[in-house]
Amino acid sequence: MGRPFVSRKAARFTESVIREMSRVCAQHGGINLAQGFPDFPAPAAMKEAAKRAIDADINQYAVTWGSPRLRAAIAARTSAYNRIATDAGANVTVCCGATESMIAALLAVLDPGDEVIVFEPFYENYGPDCILSGAVPRFVRLSPPEWSFDREELARAFGPKTRAIIINTPHNPTGKVFAREELEFIAGLCREHDALAITDEIYEYILYDGAEHVSIGALEGMSEHTVTISGLSKTWSATGWRVGWCVASEEITGAIRKTHDFLTVGAPAPLQEAAAEALAFDRAYFDGLAEDYRERRDLLASVLEETGFRVYLPGGSYYIMTDVGGLTDVDDVTFADQLVRDGGVATVPGSSFFHDPADGRTMIRFCFAKRRETLERAAEALRRRLG
Ligand SMILES: Cc1ncc(COP(=O)(O)O)c(C=O)c1O
Repeated sequence: MGRPFVSRKAARFTESVIREMSRVCAQHGGINLAQGFPDFPAPAAMKEAAKRAIDADINQYAVTWGSPRLRAAIAARTSAYNRIATDAGANVTVCCGATESMIAALLAVLDPGDEVIVFEPFYENYGPDCILSGAVPRFVRLSPPEWSFDREELARAFGPKTRAIIINTPHNPTGKVFAREELEFIAGLCREHDALAITDEIYEYILYDGAEHVSIGALEGMSEHTVTISGLSKTWSATGWRVGWCVASEEITGAIRKTHDFLTVGAPAPLQEAAAEALAFDRAYFDGLAEDYRERRDLLASVLEETGFRVYLPGGSYYIMTDVGGLTDVDDVTFADQLVRDGGVATVPGSSFFHDPADGRTMIRFCFAKRRETLERAAEALRRRLG
């Protein structure tokens, strides 16, 4: 038999469990609380801007690293909100979503064998991202109920091969919002070990109960040590538009731009123009978004508690991580499968957020980026199945 046609890299990861759950949900006509996308419209003003851009024939490649107008809007927003001094010409790369931003950044800064620290549980893309970029992930545990990390464990994970640490705040799947002191501690380790912080801040405006979003790139001495990633998908409810961005030093930006160019050339040109308008929305838009999500969070959390889930209330993002140890003896994958087939509610088994599936065996993640009616239908289904 000849050599397999599948590369060793591709053989090392599986298809996304989250997207698989969405498919099973569609087959059963269920309510999808699995994948993180809203079932309500994107902002009307942003959609109108996209239509105008297409009518104005902005239909060809944009500048590969992002249309000047969008980069200017990103630079203004990142300077003001994230408190990172950002120059549109030197520091910004627009990519096809935060997803491409992350892999472009990793490919731009890592060499095979470099170690990357990843907090666990983690957003499932980071595992394959490390494999694709030839890096070796080192996992550091976030422990419930606060999803805090052990500072000594983190310090021990840093070593001579450490090139970067991936941070995600607010965090998927736990909803943890990293506190300033935690980020100061991480920043200290990055400076000491000359490592980069690659930080995925896609949920940066979805915050509850007075939580403060802190960007590690704004901390002292970190501007040269950080790649800050965000995008349109979550804050502007447009996961299908595929517009995201990286902010980094001029040197790193040069490497990310080249990598991005050869991965995808560029993000959709007319949607970049619309994104530029959306980034300039006023404060009321962002406050309203967070308040709407808080209501949805509280609705879902109370139903989950009522039906026997142990709820870890998120401080940010639009997920609720739960523990089902008190509800069932079966593992998370079996439980999630039963819940979608018999109960009609799709969720994500906790094991998809851990490198050792046993560690997520009693966890189930719910997404509440849904209309109130959808959440109420899910509540009824959960009460019928478990109540
Ligand atoms: C932490 C995190 N990063 C990135 C993404 C994907 O972002 P994008 O749609 O911009 O690629 C998601 C989507 O669920 C996410 O949860």
